[in-house]
Amino acid sequence: MRRPTLSLPTFLLLSSIFLFHSLLPTKSFEILPRSSNFGADIDGFNITNFLNSHDSIRLDSDPAVEDVPGEARVTVDALKRALHEHRFLHFPLQDGLTWQDQLTFVQLFGVAFDESLHPNRVPWEGEKDPRVAVFSNNKNHGLVGVGVEGFHSDGNVVEIPHQANFLYCEQTVKGAATLLAPLEEVRNSLPEELLLNVDFTSSHVDNLEKPLAHHHPASGRPTMFFGLGTLAGLYKKDGETLTREETDDINDKISEAIEKVGPYRHEWVAGSLLVMDNLALVHRASSETQATDDPDAIRIMRRVTLAAKRPLRRRDQTFEDYPHRCNDEICLVSLGRHIEAGADHSFPGVEEGNELCRGYFHQTSSLASLTNKELARMAAEIAEELRMPHFLDARKYGTNKPTIRWGSPTTEDEWNNEYPWDDVSGQPNDCDGPGTEPCIFIGPRGKWFDFACNPKRSEGTTPGPEITWGEREMFDIAPLCQVSLEWFHQNENEVQEKREL
Ligand SMILES: *[C@@H]1O[C@H](CO)[C@@H](O)[C@H](O)[C@H]1NC(C)=O
Repeated sequence: MRRPTLSLPTFLLLSSIFLFHSLLPTKSFEILPRSSNFGADIDGFNITNFLNSHDSIRLDSDPAVEDVPGEARVTVDALKRALHEHRFLHFPLQDGLTWQDQLTFVQLFGVAFDESLHPNRVPWEGEKDPRVAVFSNNKNHGLVGVGVEGFHSDGNVVEIPHQANFLYCEQTVKGAATLLAPLEEVRNSLPEELLLNVDFTSSHVDNLEKPLAHHHPASGRPTMFFGLGTLAGLYKKDGETLTREETDDINDKISEAIEKVGPYRHEWVAGSLLVMDNLALVHRASSETQATDDPDAIRIMRRVTLAAKRPLRRRDQTFEDYPHRCNDEICLVSLGRHIEAGADHSFPGVEEGNELCRGYFHQTSSLASLTNKELARMAAEIAEELRMPHFLDARKYGTNKPTIRWGSPTTEDEWNNEYPWDDVSGQPNDCDGPGTEPCIFIGPRGKWFDFACNPKRSEGTTPGPEITWGEREMFDIAPLCQVSLEWFHQNENEVQEKREL
């Protein structure tokens, strides 16, 4: 089946004219951006129905749904992009959503975090599953007093903070709200000097530092990480621990910036689900959420968080030691020496590779689109230099004499379908059956191979491709990014200027 790849603007335009009628015959939904500068409402999306219409999703949904069926994958990818674009997605009218379905929905996006790994958390005795936290104003119904400490991102007590929070309102009390503030705007209204080389530390866990200002690992946009109030330990600047006064001064300025930007107050209605990009927003529960004056007024919230894979990092200042080749417009840059696949060969797939390119370089970066021979030659040189296969921002349509669609939005190529496939090994071949290898990597001698878009996990296969490059062996696939020459140079010049000062 042909799967359209769409840029976000195209996607929004088309979704507003019910694109999803054609993809999901019985369903359609719209992503409606809010008039405020962040957030979107998802209209006409019933999560329970969505999961029911893809029954295969439930079969092995532990711990993550690896093989989301094609049509569902289109929807999930679109929602992921919308989440990074708008920073929170509000799904109203999900009345009756069970905790099992909430968990499965999160697992379509990745791995749900086990909350018992939070060192400062006392489990609630009515807990059904360690991945589903329940909050309340009454201790018979859930954990009380959670999230009111101050504006924060979740996961400030663990090494790798979560990607996203899926917060569902089962029932609520008058005035109970979650306040949200967008971190890019907060950061932009603070002097860079205040944040430079400052690390946030947790008051609950020793030696757990995170860059206070950094770039969002998936969207590449400027962002921050912190927890205010009692969550903050003594910050560090250039590795030196700051005093309480210095730390409080920074936090006061952050609080002022949040007020200046103007948080959005989300008043809860039973049955709604809020999905927050945890690394693009800070949030805090309003005091009304804890109301105890009326013993019959019970608030019940369920939270499942989407785990991330890598610790937060500051972007490197210089890219000299990243293997790269540039022409007079574009640089192709390998992350092969910077991303560890680990012993289980969990190398990043194409979707994650695109995120890593944005996080490491710039929000306009992506995996490489080799639309002409010159770019293909540059990529071949990098692959040979590292002796590593590299994923491209490409999708293959058809098995024999397939066409390739590059990037998002898609770019035309100059190949006339005469791509440098590896003829020796009979590429492209959809090794595990038709449509099983829609993605493409560049391998030895600059030849191209089709492959799954992620490490293969099914029995009888190896995670990475087995190819002959000198010896025949299995390889991990690295991300090959592209970034504009202008940006690549701008950064190097900035570094140069700083060194000269
Ligand atoms: C969503 O779908 C479920 C299952 O079909 C249904 O029971 C529920 O009423 C629907 N919710 C809304 C708000 O339409």
